[in-house]
Amino acid sequence: MADRINVLVIGKGGREHALAWRLKQSPRAGNVFCAPGNAGTARDGVTNVPIDPNDADKLIKVCAKEAVGLVVIGPEDPLCNGLADALRAKGIKVFGPSKDAARIEGSKVFAKELMRHADVPTAEFSVFDHPQSARDWITTREYPVVVKADGLAAGKGVVVCKTGEEAVKAVERIMTREEFGAQAGRRIVVEKRLEGEEVSVLALVSGHTFLPLPACQDHKAVHDGDQGPNTGGMGAYCPAPVATPELMRDLESSVFFPIIHAMKRQRFPFQGTLFAGLFLTNQGPRVLEFNCRFGDPETQVLMMRLKTDLLDLLEAVADERLQEYENIEWDARPSVCVVLCSGGYPGKYTNGKVITGIAEADALPGVKVFHAGTKFDDQNRVVTDGGRVLGVTALGDTLAEAKARAYEAVKLITFTGMHYRTDIADKALKPKPVVPPAEPPKLPARFRKPPTG
Ligand code: GLY
Repeated sequence: MADRINVLVIGKGGREHALAWRLKQSPRAGNVFCAPGNAGTARDGVTNVPIDPNDADKLIKVCAKEAVGLVVIGPEDPLCNGLADALRAKGIKVFGPSKDAARIEGSKVFAKELMRHADVPTAEFSVFDHPQSARDWITTREYPVVVKADGLAAGKGVVVCKTGEEAVKAVERIMTREEFGAQAGRRIVVEKRLEGEEVSVLALVSGHTFLPLPACQDHKAVHDGDQGPNTGGMGAYCPAPVATPELMRDLESSVFFPIIHAMKRQRFPFQGTLFAGLFLTNQGPRVLEFNCRFGDPETQVLMMRLKTDLLDLLEAVADERLQEYENIEWDARPSVCVVLCSGGYPGKYTNGKVITGIAEADALPGVKVFHAGTKFDDQNRVVTDGGRVLGVTALGDTLAEAKARAYEAVKLITFTGMHYRTDIADKALKPKPVVPPAEPPKLPARFRKPPTG
C-alpha cells in the first residue's frame, strides 16, 4: 500500500511497548521497529534493533536503511540530549520536542522560571547555586520543603523533606557530595512541599494547538498506602475521576495554554507530549513538574483505551496538523495497570529471573501485559532485565472491574522476588476516611463566650 509508513519507537520500557503495540495496529503502519525494545515488543511483531537510544548516528543510519517515515521518541534522556534535533537535521520526521523545549523536564530551574514567567500555578520556590545560601533560606522557612537537583538524575534527584534538618542534608547530598552527578547538582530548586492528591495530565502539543488526554493517576511509592521510597511508578488508572471536567477546563486555561504559548513566544515551541504532574491542593491545582514525554505507566492505561489511530495522531503532531483533530476517541471503559517489579526495586536487584504465566495472563479477556524490563535468555525464555518488569493492564466496565481483572492476571504471573502494590486505583474506589473536625482549642475561662439566649 503506497502510504504505509515504517515507524521507529525509541526506548525499551512499558511505555514504548504500549506505543509500539498501538502503532502496529494502525492500518497505515508498515514495519514497526523499536530501539532497543524488549521481549514484549519482539513478541508483538515489532522488530527490535539493538541500538542505544542516545546513539544518534546509528539511529540515523537505521532510519535510512529501513526507510523510516516517523520516529517516536519515548524517554526523556535522548530528548534532552537533542536526538529529535539530530534526526530532523537529516530530514527525518520525528514525534518529540527539540533539545531546547525538552529543558522543561531536563532543567528544574528552567521549568520553574518558565512557570513563573507564564503565571502557571506552582509551589513557591527559590533557586540556589551555593549550598550556604540554600541552607540560610531553608532555616528561615516555616513549612516543609522539597529539594530538587536541577538536572536529570534518573528520576532520583528530588528529595521530599519533613524537617529543615532533612532539607539541609538533601542540599549536602545534591550539591556537596554530588550524589546525583556533578552537573545535575550544580544548581538546586528548593520549593514549598505541596499537599493533596496527585494527578497526571498529558496533552499532545504541536505549535499553538494542544489536545489534552484523559487524566490518569500514578502510584509512585513502592508500597501500598503510598508508603516507602518513590519509584518510576507502580501502577496507574485512567480516567482519574478526581480530574472533573471543570478541573480539566481550568487546567487547559491556567496551565497548558500559558506554558505552550510562553514556549512558542520564546522561540522553543513544544512538539510532542507535554505531561503536567499536578497536586490538587486546597488552594487549587499546582504544577509539581512538567515532563517532555509520555508517562510510564500512564501510557499503558492510555493506550489501552485509545481508539483513534495513534499513527495518524502522532504524525499530525509532527506535521503541525493537530488542529485537524477536534477530539480523540476513547474506549468508555476505564483501565488499570499494575506494575510487577524485581525483588529489591527501587533499590538493588538482580536480573535474569525466568518469568512464567505471561501468555496465560494475556489470554484473559480485556487484559494486555506490557513488558518493560524483559529480554530473552539463551534458551529463548523471557527473563527479567530491569527494576520494573511488566505492566499488567486491563479494561473493565467499571474501574472496580478493571482492577479485579488486572489482579486476576497478575496472579498468573511468577518470577523469583516479584513484588507489586495491591491497592492500585483504590484512591478512586474507596471512599476517603472521614476526618472528624478538630476539637476546638481549649481556651482559658476569660476567653470563653458567655452562653447566649
Ligand atoms: N509516571 C511518572 C513518569 O512517567 O514520570
